Amino acid sequence: MRILITGGCGFVGSTLAMFLAEAGHTVTALDNLKRRGSERNIAPLGQHGIRVVHGDVRNPEDLETVPDCDVLCECSAEASVSAGYGESPLYLLNTNLVGCMHCLEYARRRQCGIIFLSSSRVYPIAHLRSLPLRHGATRFYLSPEDGGQGWSTEGISASFPLAGSRSLYGASKLASELLLAEYHAVYNVPFIVNRCGVIAGPGQMGKVDQGFFSLWLAGHLWKGRLSYLGFGGFGLQVRDILHVYDLAELIEREIRTMTTYDGACWNVGGGKRNSVSLCELTELCREATGHIVTVNAVPETAAADIPWYISDNTEVEARTGWRPARGLPALLEDTFAWLKREEQTLKSFFGFFEG
Ligand SMILES: NC(=O)c1ccc[n+]([C@@H]2O[C@H](COP(=O)([O-])OP(=O)(O)OC[C@H]3O[C@@H](n4cnc5c(N)ncnc54)[C@H](O)[C@@H]3O)[C@@H](O)[C@H]2O)c1
Repeated sequence: MRILITGGCGFVGSTLAMFLAEAGHTVTALDNLKRRGSERNIAPLGQHGIRVVHGDVRNPEDLETVPDCDVLCECSAEASVSAGYGESPLYLLNTNLVGCMHCLEYARRRQCGIIFLSSSRVYPIAHLRSLPLRHGATRFYLSPEDGGQGWSTEGISASFPLAGSRSLYGASKLASELLLAEYHAVYNVPFIVNRCGVIAGPGQMGKVDQGFFSLWLAGHLWKGRLSYLGFGGFGLQVRDILHVYDLAELIEREIRTMTTYDGACWNVGGGKRNSVSLCELTELCREATGHIVTVNAVPETAAADIPWYISDNTEVEARTGWRPARGLPALLEDTFAWLKREEQTLKSFFGFFEG
């Protein structure tokens, strides 16, 4: 099939593009190269026979130059949850929301489907913070008897209530989802929404506010500066981690069977099995590298931070038969291997190298 990937030079977009090209699809990647490091992917994409278009989703005319496709995967974004705090939100909103609208216009005019990379951040911060979390020795956790609408020890499902503030990033994703549903209803544009938790793996340029998993691994490997940020500064906050190769396999399945899942909106993540707290991740990194890095404690919690998020994959697994095949050991092994292989060129991207 002919696939257009917007944000096709980013972490997810480039991995997906190469995976789809290897599976025999014809792929075009469009990216404005805003994210530092995305330019590193141009050559590998070209080697996979992927056409790379330097373009911006904020400009509809940039999409006009792209050939027709059967499915557009919208992976472009300002993907930081802290974007807009203490700064203008305009780049975030113009890229994530207006950009998505331009992708929808492309899909309407060219009559193609659209697969949207949404986020667990559509769920409201206050409600997530109000879950009755217990303090374990190494992580926050829920008791097996606890549960409510859209949440249980399995994680958060798509029926979690949506009322409340969710960060500007989360709002840009939810507003885009609403537009997708309208283009579907009014113009028959097929769509699938994947509300992703944390995605990680080789190729991710780690930052505190985006890509903490690779940041943590690189921090241990190269003895960088790391901090437990928020919730008292103990590192008890929990996330589930999805290997980017598992996500690529799901999206390929969605592309092939778009009509079956048309209109779906589900949570997608590593799930309970792949959940880890920051201080547990520290231990795993110490075992893997033999390096003991002092992690600073910053007790104050940032406005958009949440203490616990695990994706409940029940719906996507039941309907598609997909489930994440790669656990935490594979995530660590693959990401460490990439960091070691490209150490010389990667170090400057992580910003904390201390020699
Ligand atoms: N990585 C995660 O943990 C995660 C979790 C949930 C959802 N997501 C979503 O998945 C998608 C991919 O995220 P990622 O981790 O690959 O991020 P990324 O920053 O690595 O990739 C995003 C790409 O979009 C490009 N881009 C930014 N603004 C653009 C614009 N105006 N026009 C064209 N291209 C533009 C960037 O240059 C970059 O290459 C995003 O929509 C993100 O919100 C990511």
